[in-house]
Amino acid sequence: MSSDDATLAAVPDLSAFWMPFTDNRYFKANPRLFSAASGMHYTTPDGRRVLDATAGLWCVNAGHGREPIVRAIQAQAAKLDFAPTFQLGHPAAFELATRLAALMPRGLDRVFFTNSGSESADTALKMALAYHHARGQSGRVRMIGRQRGYHGTNMGGTSVGGIGGNRRAFGAQIWGVDHLAHTHGHAAPFTRGRQASNGDLAGELNELIALHGAESIAAVIVEPVAGSTGVLVPPRGYLERLRQITAQHGILLIFDEVITGFGRLGKATAAEFFGVTPDILTLAKGLTNGAVPMGAVVASRAVHDAIVEGAPAGIEFLHGYTYSGHPLAAAAGIATLKICESEALFERAEGLASYWEDAVHRLAGTRHVIDVRNLGLVAGIELAPREGAPGERATRAFRRCFDEGLLIRVTGDIIALSPPLIVERAQIDEIVERIAAVLETIE
Ligand SMILES: Cc1ncc(COP(=O)(O)O)c(C=O)c1O
Repeated sequence: MSSDDATLAAVPDLSAFWMPFTDNRYFKANPRLFSAASGMHYTTPDGRRVLDATAGLWCVNAGHGREPIVRAIQAQAAKLDFAPTFQLGHPAAFELATRLAALMPRGLDRVFFTNSGSESADTALKMALAYHHARGQSGRVRMIGRQRGYHGTNMGGTSVGGIGGNRRAFGAQIWGVDHLAHTHGHAAPFTRGRQASNGDLAGELNELIALHGAESIAAVIVEPVAGSTGVLVPPRGYLERLRQITAQHGILLIFDEVITGFGRLGKATAAEFFGVTPDILTLAKGLTNGAVPMGAVVASRAVHDAIVEGAPAGIEFLHGYTYSGHPLAAAAGIATLKICESEALFERAEGLASYWEDAVHRLAGTRHVIDVRNLGLVAGIELAPREGAPGERATRAFRRCFDEGLLIRVTGDIIALSPPLIVERAQIDEIVERIAAVLETIE
């Protein structure tokens, strides 16, 4: 065994790291670790390969360990490890912002960097408040989120998010938040792609406007396709209607594209996929292929100009992070976007979407499966919950899949699949067959 192998095989002391969104007591008694990754696979410390059906955590869209990204990070670290972006700058951050702006829907071209999706969500909310304030409408302070929405774990994102479990332990949250109904359950189970709208779901926003008054509402924030709560595909016309109502009432529309950005639906953004342009769009994850933490908030020219041009001389937007536009993240982001372009990754995802759809729908009829839904290269496989133990069955599936060499993600009793966009057809088949086999064996 080489010394490298010995390092990989050593199990570290697990006690000090208080792990995020983890059953710490279970994990530390039953650790599951990764020690390396390449392409579509992780490797465990004992040398097992695990096929990645979740792009890490929805972020490694170009596949693991991509040489150009690794080299870009190494070169940047050697050249300029850190430079502040408060009243100073460095070229890579500007280059990345320019490249990103070119990928966004027309009119969205001002980029504010953060370090995560959570920071992007909170930054977007603050941007919306600052926009109205700059226009003399400081009374617009309410935010509208959506049930089953996930916008990260900072205070704003947690508040506009619609996951009770994520909020319950954390007190009152931010003031003035209301929620739209979620978009699930309006289509029959085993629906492929998008469904015709059944009623006017988005029209509920009019009721919230009547309740609170448009003059008190700053923004509506939604994920175009809810990811973390189990792949909830909106009905046709839904996002268009949200856009129409928000525009009519001077309310900003924020799309949280932390998951849907960078090719997940076969386009650079879900906004492009659905043909609906928000005022503010949040990104993270796939921006650097997960290699260095980074997020971004892209604002329309109107939002940017109201805040920046409307401010007195001096700092216009009193917000930012020490690591906004960090050189290593910027280098990783530029290298990632170059890969997306040179390998036509978004188009690749688009081209695979119907194969993916057919494959995942083969799970209809598999033991425990009560629904399959999909869009782009994402799918939700919903399992019947175990009596009195919601979430338990999917957790068992997750653990068994891992042990059998497949990484899936589960949320409640839903398996959420989002493979790297480099996935091959044979690997799609492998993902589906392995899940089917595992479901046959678990209770
Ligand atoms: C839609 C959405 N917004 C925000 C976040 C939070 O991102 P992060 O974990 O990088 O803070 C996530 C994470 O999954 C997400 O899916």
